[in-house]
Amino acid sequence: MILKDKKILITGILTDKSIAFATAKIAIENGATVVATGFGKGLRITERAVKRLSEDIKVFEMDIENLNQVNEAVKNIEDEVGNLDGILHAIAFSPTDAMGGNFLNTTVEDAVKSFEISAFSLKTLATSFQPILNKPSSIVALDFDNSQAWPGYDWQGVAKSSLQSIVRYLGYYMGDSGVRVNAVAAGPLATTAAKNIPGFSEMDNEWNERAPLGWDTKNAEPVAKVVNFLLSDLSEAVTGEIIHADGGAHSIGGSMLPN
Ligand SMILES: NC(=O)c1ccc[n+]([C@@H]2O[C@H](COP(=O)([O-])OP(=O)(O)OC[C@H]3O[C@@H](n4cnc5c(N)ncnc54)[C@H](O)[C@@H]3O)[C@@H](O)[C@H]2O)c1
Repeated sequence: MILKDKKILITGILTDKSIAFATAKIAIENGATVVATGFGKGLRITERAVKRLSEDIKVFEMDIENLNQVNEAVKNIEDEVGNLDGILHAIAFSPTDAMGGNFLNTTVEDAVKSFEISAFSLKTLATSFQPILNKPSSIVALDFDNSQAWPGYDWQGVAKSSLQSIVRYLGYYMGDSGVRVNAVAAGPLATTAAKNIPGFSEMDNEWNERAPLGWDTKNAEPVAKVVNFLLSDLSEAVTGEIIHADGGAHSIGGSMLPN
């Protein structure tokens, strides 16, 4: 029960395939009280998905691009559960023209939109919720390691590189307040966001072959467990860190593997 008595905000639950859904499930199993946010047309879907975890989880509307809504969510969550001990940032979006091999022709507007929603949003979330974060507390983001170029991932990959950097700067600037900021770099998982990335599903077999521990794209729980570790006091000395939960694939080169 590593999250006993902890109150955790989980953003980004869309369906029961979402990494955020698996994170909430493991957090509840570990004793946490969970609140969730959803946004826009997806809000109803989030509410339905969350019911599969527990009838007691409150869902608040929060479009990370709408600062009034973010502030309203902070106020409502404070009223409903009080201060928080942890937050999962599981938010990403790229316009179609920013992915799928269109890299050289993507407009600055589409690239910036990817950055705003997928990377800068971590700063928005962290600073908006800081007034209701306990000391110590933990913020965790979800990365897809972009230290090499992934054909088709394109400007979402650039946004992920920014996200990694933002994790380190937030870790620096929020350390005094007792807030740790880290990310988990997950292997590919079959979620709604992933389905929208051209070519992503073709990575399934390759990843499983490369990862020393193997990889199941249909099981987000191994990633969720690492997120839960980072949300818990077990990670009290960890901040500004990116932990790979990818079966070890990031540590292995591909080109010399036997066919
Ligand atoms: N699926 C993968 O293979 C994989 C791998 C590594 C990292 N990730 C990251 O995990 C995170 C969660 O994605 P997922 O794969 O579980 O997919 P998902 O589609 O289940 O979740 C994406 C979430 O982003 C939310 N979102 C998008 N725009 C938003 C906005 N303006 N305001 C608030 N929320 C918004 C959606 O509501 C949705 O819940 C993302 O950051 C994604 O990049 C995914």
